[in-house]
Amino acid sequence: MTYSDTVRAALPALQQKEHVRILALETSCDETAAAVVEDGRKILSNCVYTQIDLHALYGGVVPEIASRAHVEKVDAMVDAALREAHMTLEEADALAVTYGPGLVGALLAGVSCMKGLAFMTGKPLIPVHHIEGHICANYLTWPELEPPFVCLVVSGGHSHILEVTDYGEYRLLGCTQDDAAGEAFDKAARVLDLPYPGGPRLDKLADAGDPQALKLPRPHTDGPYDFSFSGLKTAFINAVHHQDQTGERMPAEDLAASFRAAVVSQLVEKTMLAAENARASTLALAGGVSANSLLRREMQSACDRRGIRLYMPRLDLCGDNGAMIGSAAYYRLRRGELAGLDLNARPSLSLF
Ligand code: KG4
Ligand code: ZN
Repeated sequence: MTYSDTVRAALPALQQKEHVRILALETSCDETAAAVVEDGRKILSNCVYTQIDLHALYGGVVPEIASRAHVEKVDAMVDAALREAHMTLEEADALAVTYGPGLVGALLAGVSCMKGLAFMTGKPLIPVHHIEGHICANYLTWPELEPPFVCLVVSGGHSHILEVTDYGEYRLLGCTQDDAAGEAFDKAARVLDLPYPGGPRLDKLADAGDPQALKLPRPHTDGPYDFSFSGLKTAFINAVHHQDQTGERMPAEDLAASFRAAVVSQLVEKTMLAAENARASTLALAGGVSANSLLRREMQSACDRRGIRLYMPRLDLCGDNGAMIGSAAYYRLRRGELAGLDLNARPSLSLF
């Protein structure tokens, strides 16, 4: 029997099994992360090696450095995740890996590693979409959360409003027309000379500033639930340069607070409009930017005013991690979505 025949034959029994433990690997960008998750909801281990120090020198992720670091670290992270879960590889029921979207070399490091383990052990391999993983970080945080709900996904590469109609089923409501929210935060942070990754640092700095200090434009978008951040970013960069030329730069705290407020108000307004029109009673946040403190506060009060129940991932699950991939993989396994040994990295993989 071939590998595919073996795993297909074993699938029905696995889908009936009372407890399913999945070993998951995430290497789409600059975190080498491995985890073991039980039944899509319970984290048995979650090990993240961040490459931030390697890239900080260059002010952003260098794809070649990222790929190499993943190749060097994947084995150790898989071992660490199994050890922390008090398990052997044999005891894992299935394997999962992020196969897109992301940096091609980085994705390939994870996909190759997991394909090797799948071939060696004969265990099923579940291919996971990175953004689906971010959404599922909410299932790990909130046991009672189930679809349907509207979700705002905001990361370094994505800004989407979508409807999760069922496990693994998504309907796009709106998305960014240009930059992603995280990308905009990182670029604004660079102008303020904050080290990479700037988003979280800008967030901290903004807490001590006046959000009204700098007037920034309100962007126009095609669709009512679409976003645009590049005009905002350019206006911000121009304003800072202009202030430098006149020798009167505002305090960095005020600049950071003004930029953060402009991004967050756009995210909150569009998401609320989409949630109201979809008659959603439940909303979730996902992705690295969902760690933003103002976004969390403002979204909570906007939801409270409208009687919408808001779910946000635990702070340590907002950024890239393996547990979110293990959760998404569980629901894919239930639908019988398995990969063959011909699985390839898909840098521009779409969710819709
Ligand atoms: O989801 P993520 O970890 O990786 C991608 O899939 O892109 O998101 C990373 C992004 C970066 O742009 C980072 O600056 C941003 O999330 N980010 C934040 C905060 N924490 C992370 N942006 C604003 N405020 C934060 N607190
Ligand atoms: Zn991510």
